[in-house]
Amino acid sequence: MSTSRRGFLKGILGTGAAGAAAATLPGCAPDIDPAPVTDVTASAAGTVDLLVTRYPDLEPVGGAITVRVPGQPTPLLIAHTKNEGASDDFSTVSSICTHVGCPLGFDGKDVVCPCHLSRFSPKDGSVLHRPATVALRSFQTTYNAGTRVVSVNVLGGDSNFPSAVDGVVTLPFSEFPDLRNNGGLVTGTPPGYGNAIFVSRQQDGTLSAVDSICTHQQCPVEFDSAKDDLFCPCHGSTFTLEGAVTQGPATLPLKKFTVTETPDAVVVSGVR
Ligand code: FES
Ligand code: FES
Repeated sequence: MSTSRRGFLKGILGTGAAGAAAATLPGCAPDIDPAPVTDVTASAAGTVDLLVTRYPDLEPVGGAITVRVPGQPTPLLIAHTKNEGASDDFSTVSSICTHVGCPLGFDGKDVVCPCHLSRFSPKDGSVLHRPATVALRSFQTTYNAGTRVVSVNVLGGDSNFPSAVDGVVTLPFSEFPDLRNNGGLVTGTPPGYGNAIFVSRQQDGTLSAVDSICTHQQCPVEFDSAKDDLFCPCHGSTFTLEGAVTQGPATLPLKKFTVTETPDAVVVSGVR
């Protein structure tokens, strides 16, 4: 995606949240528990492959597990559903509620927060019931009924955005002309990285690139065109386009990347 700041629309990013995975909190609904947690690894290509029969909490329809993947800012909830053809189907969303960060469970139909009963679609993470107002981030998930392997792509991105190759994202001016202009901004999710990044040219001509993951509880921030800054929809933290905190509860800056330019492109490094 490429855009000038003036024309930028809010709310364009996929959404997720995280926080320290907590035990069930006082006041939690007694009949919904967070999905059991297990540690897994992703392949170099960013895919988590799970043999369903090895995970008894996931194997039955209506089952779910939470997986922790090294390098991922949030654990993921994998839910076993049925699709319209009544065959097995699986979906994956971030497993931390975007309200105040409780670990999520699955009731066989919806992703449910035990703390204050927010509900989310397992398919796309959208909010089905408040108090949460921000959707969960969803992840491309496929299932091979023959091998009984479910595969989750944790590093997927925008198909029309340059990929991160060895941690480098190259944005040609021919495709991203806004980056030639002071005040220009480009955002997108590089395949191979999995999080959106914001690349901008400041009014003094310097370039900046920051990650979209809020340092409070890992919701993705959005561009606020009215204030020309980055805004976290979960709890209201704000950041400059260079990543500095301008309003809490976040206290740490956004992750910054190294940015250089050639005559033809902006080059963002350290995107890993
Ligand atoms: S933390 Fe999930 S609804 Fe409040
Ligand atoms: S996740 Fe809480 S302010 Fe961003």
